Amino acid sequence: MSDADLETDAQRAVVEFVLTAAVYTEHREFDPDDLPPAYRAVFWEGGIERPLSPTEDTAREATGVGDPWAAVSELMFTDHDSFSGDITFSDRGIAKEWFRERADADLLEANPVLAKCLEDEIEDVDYERARERNRPARADRAVIDDLLEEYFDEDEEEEMLDLVDVHTPSEVELTLDDIVLTGEQEGEIHKIVKAIEHRDYLADIGLREIGKLLFVGPPGTGKTSVARALARKLDLPVVEVKLSMITSQYLGETAKNVEKTFEVAKRLAPCILFIDEFDFVAKTRDSDEHAAIKRAVNTLLKNIDEVSLINDEVLLIGATNHPHQLDAAAWRRFDEIVNFPKPDRGMRADILQVVTREMDIADFDPVGLAERTEGLTGSDLRLVLREAVLDALTEERTTLTQGDLLAAVEDFEERDTLKNLDMIEGDHDALVAGGSDFPGDGHDHAHD
Ligand SMILES: Nc1ncnc2c1ncn2[C@@H]1O[C@H](COP(=O)(O)OP(=O)(O)OP(=O)(O)O)[C@@H](O)[C@H]1O
Ligand SMILES: [Mg+2]
Repeated sequence: MSDADLETDAQRAVVEFVLTAAVYTEHREFDPDDLPPAYRAVFWEGGIERPLSPTEDTAREATGVGDPWAAVSELMFTDHDSFSGDITFSDRGIAKEWFRERADADLLEANPVLAKCLEDEIEDVDYERARERNRPARADRAVIDDLLEEYFDEDEEEEMLDLVDVHTPSEVELTLDDIVLTGEQEGEIHKIVKAIEHRDYLADIGLREIGKLLFVGPPGTGKTSVARALARKLDLPVVEVKLSMITSQYLGETAKNVEKTFEVAKRLAPCILFIDEFDFVAKTRDSDEHAAIKRAVNTLLKNIDEVSLINDEVLLIGATNHPHQLDAAAWRRFDEIVNFPKPDRGMRADILQVVTREMDIADFDPVGLAERTEGLTGSDLRLVLREAVLDALTEERTTLTQGDLLAAVEDFEERDTLKNLDMIEGDHDALVAGGSDFPGDGHDHAHD
């Protein structure tokens, strides 16, 4: 892009911002969901108060243009108060005309306020569509933080924030396209997306037992990633709870905190409630755990029964590495079980393709590499790639080779052997530094 293009882009971005603020201020029928999320973020103070007064600071933050006034100062319809930093239009009509000549349907699709304003003047612009595509305010970080603050007093808040972690859709980095799914997983995700789309219909026909998924599979197979990527796809916040955390809290409060977790989810609804380490429920049942913990677990099960995708707009996803520990009472509460197996050869090759998308690799052969990585999970493959990249960097290389990757696989397997050795009771001596008893060192010493 040439400097001149960059200049026009910056100009247009700042004019769009100032114009949006002016139009929004004037037309009361707009609500915060009409503003692009980046604009909302700079004007949010427990709500969006009119008038919206754009300044150099807010313009910079909302548009990413480093010096917004410099970008638009030469336009004849702009004005600036160097004391307050306010940027205004001396002639709104000319400003709108200037913007109209440079805007297109794509640009306006992301700005419902201006889409409404220019709907009749630019082809293919549709306000309703723009509004539908715009991320709603309830999924903004600022809105969620306000809600949590309003909901818990200060002491409680800290305690709850240890237990509950809320991510907004824009904070999720991975998309579903970045995750390689089995056919079954794709089917389940598709089903749930459809169920949410047709929630009203399902309620009408009385089909309410839907929207509770249990993700089952070994560590590193993508359970957490899929829950978050789904939140991003559906544009919903995700409330994450690690069940083991409830034991680390003041015991008398645990049942209450579980209750609150569900209340938070219902308040943030529509949202995803992701309950990780679900096997924890089972562990507390038969043992002689503290009564408070048992109470908390019962509260959890009761709340799971009561929460509903159809009535409360909360999609519940549980995850566990240890399905065999779950009893019938826990299983029964989920209407779909989604299996997260270790990836087979074909999936491993696909995962390798996905995670290396941005990398430069000479004679890359993902299928060959997949053959050499039996038993590795998606998370393991990511680690292997990371090691290969770092190793190459120590040699000042940013282009990898298939050989680098194969070497990283070997390193990984060696480390994996070490990890497993540690599990074998009585064999800890083998891990003492400098010891020559390590079976993998090629010397083949007898152990005793
Ligand atoms: N099928 C896959 N496709 C692409 N990436 C994957 C896949 N499975 C795992 N990964 C990657 O591995 C990493 C770890 O995955 P994630 O945390 O989702 O696993 P998990 O199943 O939740 O593990 P745990 O049971 O330990 O919580 C992530 O970076 C994820 O992107
Ligand atoms: Mg996880």
